Amino acid sequence: MTKPERDPYTGLMTTGHEWNGIKELMTPIPGLVKFFLTTTILIAVLLWILFPTWPYGPNYTKGVLGVDQRSLVQEVLVKAASLRSVWEEQFTTTDMAILEGDPDAMAFVRMHGERLFEDNCSACHGLDAAGGPGFPSLVDDQWLWGGDFETILETLRVGINAKHEDTRYAEMLAFGDEGMLSSAERQAVTAYVISLSRPDELTEKQAGRLAEGTELFAENCASCHGEDGAGSRDVGAPNLTDGFWIYGGDANSITATLRHGRVGVMPYWEDRLTEADRRLLTLYVRDLGARD
Ligand code: HEC
Ligand code: HEC
Repeated sequence: MTKPERDPYTGLMTTGHEWNGIKELMTPIPGLVKFFLTTTILIAVLLWILFPTWPYGPNYTKGVLGVDQRSLVQEVLVKAASLRSVWEEQFTTTDMAILEGDPDAMAFVRMHGERLFEDNCSACHGLDAAGGPGFPSLVDDQWLWGGDFETILETLRVGINAKHEDTRYAEMLAFGDEGMLSSAERQAVTAYVISLSRPDELTEKQAGRLAEGTELFAENCASCHGEDGAGSRDVGAPNLTDGFWIYGGDANSITATLRHGRVGVMPYWEDRLTEADRRLLTLYVRDLGARD
């Protein structure tokens, strides 16, 4: 310890501490920093007094304001539940056609339906519901089973080729694997299927097989897809004339469909979504643009 003195280089006083000739300058914490430090400490103490803070044993200091976050959460939950029961009631009992004409109900459908769709449906049908290979678009006005309220609602309830006992059942037969059509016959009928939506795109070879393909279609396919190929909602067989494809409309995709068959699986939602949610999703899907 030496006597504090003024340091000739910096003009500051020293603290009087000295180690091996090195002296420590007196540089106190700047006033502003000291001010904030003291204020934050004071605020902390104030908060300890006002709010629940210190645990002791199974209990804790409650604070003089008596704020209880648990009861706040409880209140919010009760409020949310009562809100939900109001719209659940509305969506379960009101005719969907009436809801569809009600702007307030539809604003709710758009907001809530988007979340429900994202959580449950978009993994397969896409965020924009436009589908993708193997998954039908829900916005294209083309329906396997139908786009009216009751049909969509039922599709959601029981699924397609799903594990539900009432599930809709639809299968495109594996004409190749099952030995029902030879490779040449499959190519002929593929030519016919292409001609239903894009007759200009037939190659010369395909055009030459069209007559055979037409006949094979009438014999093997018309029972499900209809004589004109426009599909049948009774058996969930898609329209082959509209240019919309689930599995692809190029020659390779069509021959693959004919060879191995297709069995698209749409899960059922009866156990996983409430009826109100299913009705809301039905309205949501129709609101995306595809009606019947
Ligand atoms: C695991 C994938 C998957 C999920 C998840 C899924 N779907 Fe599907 N959905 C399908 C497939 C596949 C089909 C077509 C089945 C077929 O090809 O026969 C389909 C068909 C449909 C159809 C019938 C379309 C028509 O043309 O008749 C509707 C409506 C539908 N889905 C709505 C939904 C909604 C709403 C949800 C969310 C609650 C959902 N899907 C979730 C795979 C899925
Ligand atoms: C037993 C009824 C049935 C018969 C018979 C049948 N189909 Fe299908 N076909 C379906 C069903 C159902 C689907 C949809 C399968 C799915 O989406 O999972 C389908 C799908 C298709 C597709 C795919 C469509 C797309 O959008 O990608 C093509 C192509 C097709 N069938 C052509 C034919 C041709 C050609 C024949 C005759 C050789 C035929 N089908 C016979 C029921 C049938």
